[in-house]
Amino acid sequence: MTSRPDDASRGVRLSRSGVRRPITRRPRRLRTNPAMRGLVRETTVEPRQLVLPLFVGEGLSEPRPIGSMPGVVQHTLDTLRATAVEAAESGLGGVMLFGIPEHKDATGSGALADDGILNVAIRAVAAEIGDDCLIMTDVCLDEFTDHGHCGVLTADGNVDNDATVELYAEMAVLHATAGAHVVAPSGMMDGQVGAIRSALDASGHIGTAILAYAVKYASAFYGPFREAVSSSLQGDRKTYQQDPANVRDALRELALDEAEGADIVMVKPALAYLDVIRAVREATRLPVAAYNVSGEYAMVEAAAAQGWIDRDAAVTETLTSIRRAGADLILTYWAMEQAQSAPGSR
Ligand code: PBG
Repeated sequence: MTSRPDDASRGVRLSRSGVRRPITRRPRRLRTNPAMRGLVRETTVEPRQLVLPLFVGEGLSEPRPIGSMPGVVQHTLDTLRATAVEAAESGLGGVMLFGIPEHKDATGSGALADDGILNVAIRAVAAEIGDDCLIMTDVCLDEFTDHGHCGVLTADGNVDNDATVELYAEMAVLHATAGAHVVAPSGMMDGQVGAIRSALDASGHIGTAILAYAVKYASAFYGPFREAVSSSLQGDRKTYQQDPANVRDALRELALDEAEGADIVMVKPALAYLDVIRAVREATRLPVAAYNVSGEYAMVEAAAAQGWIDRDAAVTETLTSIRRAGADLILTYWAMEQAQSAPGSR
């Protein structure tokens, strides 16, 4: 019986003269069964590489569901504590805390109050998990301002870069004092990393690390997050967050944050920017983080809820793609469940 020239499954192909030749190069040998696939797998997603973002709402007596992020809530202080303990027990690398104050104002004063929700939450979590799991904090004003911008405004309505940076530096010191291991400035103000590093050092927090949102695009994929932090933003953030069309700009931001003393650099969002993650990975020796943002979460959850995709497989594939692109660590709302499923086994 003869086989078609391209019929690899038969193990032979016909030369032009009709002689059967064995096919010896068979990549399929390495895909035979789970043990073989596991043996040669290049990329893994391990709990220690994952960071779970957590929202805590001031004055809540019950967790408040976030409609556009099924399964994610604004926590009460109690459920925040319990979830942080579970995160530590699951072996996660860290939690990233976001606070939502009851009252917002033009200068985001809740961010700088010692009894402000985020500062209270950091102390509460620090008392529970110690050093078992890193406490990371969002250093930004958008959760605290009534206009929803990441900083304070000038008289003509622009975000005032240098005044905002001073507030970030104060915030970072408060977070470190409350027990944060890592502070994460996300507001894309020029000079924010350097100012925070100086303020931390001057206040004795030389061991507090800075995870810099070095590369952060003005993205439509933050939509559900705005609901998560009850944001009242009108307009957009295009005068401070980056244009999605640009990659050289990302490398410039990276170089500045490195020079200013960033310890870890982050790219955000992740999925529409896998090429940027790769470019940053190749341009720095620092650990690279990527933020698998709210809109990326919502897309998979929404499609899965319709029965249109296999949710668990899509989650693992998504996180694997971000690691493969070059991210050492990932901030993801799926961190806990990914850690609790056997990592790398699917
Ligand atoms: C700003 C901040 C944002 C996110 C993390 N930090 C919102 C924004 O920049 O508009 C988005 C995270 C997500 O979408 O999951 N404090």
